[in-house]
Amino acid sequence: MDKPSTDLPVAFTLNGSAAATESRIGERLSHTLRERLDQRDVKIGCNAGDCGACTVLVDGEPVCACLMATPQANGRSVETLAGLVKADPDARRLAESFQAHAAAQCGICTPGMMVTAVALLRRLPEPTAAEVEEALGGVLCRCTGYRKIIDAVCDAGRGVWPEPPDTGRVGAPIRKLDGLAKVSGQEVFSDDIAPGDTLVLRVLRSPHARAGFRFGDLEAFVAETDGIETVLTAADVPGQNLYGVIPGFIDQPVFAETEARFRGEAVAAVIGTAQAMQAFDMQSFPVTWEPLPAAEGISAALAPNAPQLHADRSGNIMCKGLVQCGNADTALQEADVTAEGEFTTSYVEHGYIEPEAAYAYLEEGRIVIHAGTQAPVMNRESMALILGWDEARVRIAPTAVGGGFGSKLDLSIQPLVALGAVKTGRPVRATYSRTESMQSTTKRHPAQIAVRIGAKADGTLCGMDFTGQFNTGAYASWGPTVANRVPVHASGPYRLTDYCAKSTAVYTNGPPSGAFRGFGVPQSAIAQESLFDELAAQLGMDALEFRIRNALTAGQPTVCGQVFEQGVGIKACLEALRPAWSESRARAEAFNAQAEAEQTPLRLGVGVAAGWYGCGNTSLPNPSTIKAGLRADGSVVLHQGAMDIGQGANTVIAQIFAEALGLPVHEMQLIGADTDITPDGGKTSASRQTFVSGNAARLSGEALRRQILVMVNASEDAGLAIDGGRIIVTDAGQTHEIDLAKLAPDEDGYVLRACETYDPPTRPLDENGQGIPYAQFGYAAHLAEVEVDLALGTVKARKFTAAHDLGQAINPLLVEGQVQGGIAQGLGMALMEEYLPGRTENLHDYLIPTTGDMPPVDTLIIEDPDAHGPYGAKGLGEHVLIPTAPAILNAIAHASGVRIRQVPATPSVVRAALREAGHD
Ligand code: FES
Repeated sequence: MDKPSTDLPVAFTLNGSAAATESRIGERLSHTLRERLDQRDVKIGCNAGDCGACTVLVDGEPVCACLMATPQANGRSVETLAGLVKADPDARRLAESFQAHAAAQCGICTPGMMVTAVALLRRLPEPTAAEVEEALGGVLCRCTGYRKIIDAVCDAGRGVWPEPPDTGRVGAPIRKLDGLAKVSGQEVFSDDIAPGDTLVLRVLRSPHARAGFRFGDLEAFVAETDGIETVLTAADVPGQNLYGVIPGFIDQPVFAETEARFRGEAVAAVIGTAQAMQAFDMQSFPVTWEPLPAAEGISAALAPNAPQLHADRSGNIMCKGLVQCGNADTALQEADVTAEGEFTTSYVEHGYIEPEAAYAYLEEGRIVIHAGTQAPVMNRESMALILGWDEARVRIAPTAVGGGFGSKLDLSIQPLVALGAVKTGRPVRATYSRTESMQSTTKRHPAQIAVRIGAKADGTLCGMDFTGQFNTGAYASWGPTVANRVPVHASGPYRLTDYCAKSTAVYTNGPPSGAFRGFGVPQSAIAQESLFDELAAQLGMDALEFRIRNALTAGQPTVCGQVFEQGVGIKACLEALRPAWSESRARAEAFNAQAEAEQTPLRLGVGVAAGWYGCGNTSLPNPSTIKAGLRADGSVVLHQGAMDIGQGANTVIAQIFAEALGLPVHEMQLIGADTDITPDGGKTSASRQTFVSGNAARLSGEALRRQILVMVNASEDAGLAIDGGRIIVTDAGQTHEIDLAKLAPDEDGYVLRACETYDPPTRPLDENGQGIPYAQFGYAAHLAEVEVDLALGTVKARKFTAAHDLGQAINPLLVEGQVQGGIAQGLGMALMEEYLPGRTENLHDYLIPTTGDMPPVDTLIIEDPDAHGPYGAKGLGEHVLIPTAPAILNAIAHASGVRIRQVPATPSVVRAALREAGHD
């Protein structure tokens, strides 16, 4: 039984209408709006005023609703995005402009951004970019890099924004097909779907990096605690209490059984009524902890007497990777110059604004799970094993995803709510707090890298030896992928005939490291691209020209012996940077000369770096399937199961399908991912969706088109149009009609249908890492201009120029958004982001870039068509981040003369390096 309610009445005006409800003493306005008044367009990202996602207007002023106690709103006017877009002219202009600029990617920050922008436009009808930057400085976005948001707000003020093209063909910068829901507050994210009276689950987590634990009397605890229905422990897992993503490395328990292996690991869960759980104090849970010596970090885990995390892996070594060709040692001995160094990188948190949330219930003997995920079919497979059920009894129906960047590939909260629903027989929901999300979900692998690279006097690369150790944390997650992928990529996109790269993934008592944009390649690129600058300097060569000289070209083998006959666009990317490189260098020279003359501490520096990334799984099957159908009424339905996590898959894949079919993209009806109704689009990871699912969409479009053309014996060049229930085929001056009503519908109601699969052609790597790991690579080169304060050690990015070879830009508007967002994450990794368990577990101690950190980005699109990509297109998602951090480090060195070999290069790190170099 719940205790009698202590709720107090409260009344205010909500979006122009009277609202009356109750609230507890100290209840957050955000909670009241969402849970009592069903105003779920108000998003919660941190509950601490750090992210601004919950921004609403109170008497016209923007406030974080999570920081306002509900009684403070009594008698006042509260406005949220959903209300504003219905009537407020500024909000309506913002909604148009945000769509025109694709300023909403995942969309979870969009309500907070737009509400804050409404307040600005009311105060300053035509703000400058600097004014927008300042006004939005308290609202975080992890996807966009802010520049498109700033442009959108400026244009909304002016009342003019780019008009969409009248074609939706491949190459057209159309608006996102799913953009309207995101700018109107209608998008349903993972915490928006459960009814308010659903049972709530909360998790008991280890406060120690390693600890044994004992539970007290759980039955008595449940019986004696008001409103608590049950608890869950490992004993409640009916199937296998393990999950993971790589066969042979399935090692993470849903609940720890005898020992917690990292701070934040789940050991039990409590389920109760929403009212009871709002007041529940986890300190009352009957558990006794026994802290144990922990292996925190790679060195500690490899020490002779280190605790063994997993008995079946000797010495805490999870796995190793190797690629070698030629003879690196001999080549390095014969080199005219060599550069070498040791580099370290830290845990990096994904920092999506939407913490994990999920809702599960039983339906006709099956479990239905709603959550944000990047891999619905993989989730279903894992959930079936955990429950001990047949897969057919598991339905994953994803919600919109408020940012993923790799971490939402793994299961996290889903098994908990599902086990809760099975045990109670009732629907169960859960939402991680920001701290829980940061403590318990995967991170970017911290790395320790040692590299030696040589070159001949003419600037030709001559030998490279690379060794990387990667901290995979307590469980494997995507660690094996990182260990395999890094040696393939550590050369960078350059011609190297003598090469040896070894990687080791090491278990530690840290949070599991997993997938995060680049799978270890951003870490290796920092080392390799930094040493390239040192080699160029030793040779007296220009750093950009040194790279152009060594850039891989079509017909040359990669370090894996793979030869691409076309589509190797790295040289073109680097060459495209030449004008900006010259301008920026000249600007820096003039700036620094003046600074030295005036004895001021600021210096300007310019750095360049390149990167490449193989799209899709490494040497493994990687299929996607796309289904489409035509109904008798003429509607064209696309079953698009490739998760759109903000990057734009819904739009890009529809554009490819429409191009292949030969009908306008706006005639497509999209059915999103749901394991019951969409075939497997594979996981959204490894920059594979445009390439792999895009090809499946192309094949489906072509197959549907062929069926139509055959029906009227028309040629390949025929034009198609749909007029109600008729298809009009125009061919060689003749017009044919197909009356769809005369065709028999199938079980799905389709009179014509296609379902096609694409799997990239790869081959396994041999014992030396030789083979065909990927069917395609994408290429990138970034130029960074930064200002360094020699007195303070602070670094401020001033400008980026980013050249990307995408083969074919399916939608250039979305390309720009991806590039800008990736650069913002690369900037964070380079300068500020470091996850430290127990110390940076929230968004005020863990810093991610804000509007003020992100300078303008000039995006240069290179199109060197890929032989396998749909219409020549290549993936982009990971590539956008890889060159950013090394370009920044090279720019810091250019500005200050100091080389930084660890990230993040925080002011204290830079200042220490400056002091060591003699700057007082
Ligand atoms: Fe801003 Fe995703 S669009 S957080």
